[in-house]
Amino acid sequence: MSMKPDLTVDIGGLPLQNPVLTASGTFGYAREFEHLVDLNRLGAIIVKGLSLEPTKGNPPPRIAETPCGMLNAIGLENVGIEAFVNEKLPFLQTLSPPLIVNIYGKLEDDYNRLATRIEDLEAVAGIEVNISCPNVKAGGMAFGVDPQAAFSVIRAVREQTRKFLAVKLSPNVSDITEIARAVEDAGADCISLINTLSAMAIDIETRRPRLANITGGLSGPAIKPVALRMVWQVARIAKVPVIGIGGIMTAADALEFFIAGASAVQVGTANFVNPHVTTDIIVGIEKFLADRNIAKISDLIGSLET
Ligand SMILES: Cc1cc2nc3c(=O)[nH]c(=O)nc-3n(C[C@H](O)[C@H](O)[C@H](O)COP(=O)(O)O)c2cc1C
Repeated sequence: MSMKPDLTVDIGGLPLQNPVLTASGTFGYAREFEHLVDLNRLGAIIVKGLSLEPTKGNPPPRIAETPCGMLNAIGLENVGIEAFVNEKLPFLQTLSPPLIVNIYGKLEDDYNRLATRIEDLEAVAGIEVNISCPNVKAGGMAFGVDPQAAFSVIRAVREQTRKFLAVKLSPNVSDITEIARAVEDAGADCISLINTLSAMAIDIETRRPRLANITGGLSGPAIKPVALRMVWQVARIAKVPVIGIGGIMTAADALEFFIAGASAVQVGTANFVNPHVTTDIIVGIEKFLADRNIAKISDLIGSLET
């Protein structure tokens, strides 16, 4: 009998019991999944992106199914930071996995104020800065497609917080390594990639876009090969750890990301298909390692043979 494999990882100063996290916006504020998932088994919990003020998001329809994926243009609907602290945090702080708060702003100062507020919250282990949302008119992706803007916003956030700081990048760029370098130089502890790909779908009978916002973000299995390529490119040049995101539905998908160089993964759209997919992936990774007598997940990270 082989030993139970060691699934622990460190993502830039934040130790995790296993490398499977929930992707922002696909797991609510975790309580929504309480009856479906043993939340304490997760590597870490990342909640829906928060802004300073409550946000209604875009008008419907905001979601459309596409082959092997989905389009969304939610527009970052969320309760706002204060309601999060008062209404969501009391439950979240009863859980054992580290809590990572995803933040989004229209202006650089919004990010600073959010980071300053979160710095005071003992129950929050870290911040994931979303500079990659394709579905909002101002801010969001604008910071994530320009290396100088990315550097500037992340440096400003870094000055406000000593907590773990991940930066979530957009795939809607021609050179992902340029943006990765900029946020690393600005003080990011970790790089999360990818957010959704800018995309659209049309109803040919009405000749109208399927989303009221016209364009949206593509996620799910359709984007996995793109995400994997970007994780591989960034992991090769970055000094900080990378978290892989994009179309992960199974343990095998997650394992591809580890081999490409990811130190952890986030599971997004798959939660809508199978609400306990995160647990299935953790169990599947453990079995893969045990079956092959691989003692620890860290032996697999970046082990791609070329
Ligand atoms: C409905 C929906 C809402 C999302 N909301 C956010 C968000 O608030 N902040 C963020 O950084 N990413 C958000 N994302 C992006 C996901 O976290 C993830 O990066 C992306 O969907 C790719 O992973 P997946 O293919 O596993 O879904 C959202 C994605 C979906 C599908």
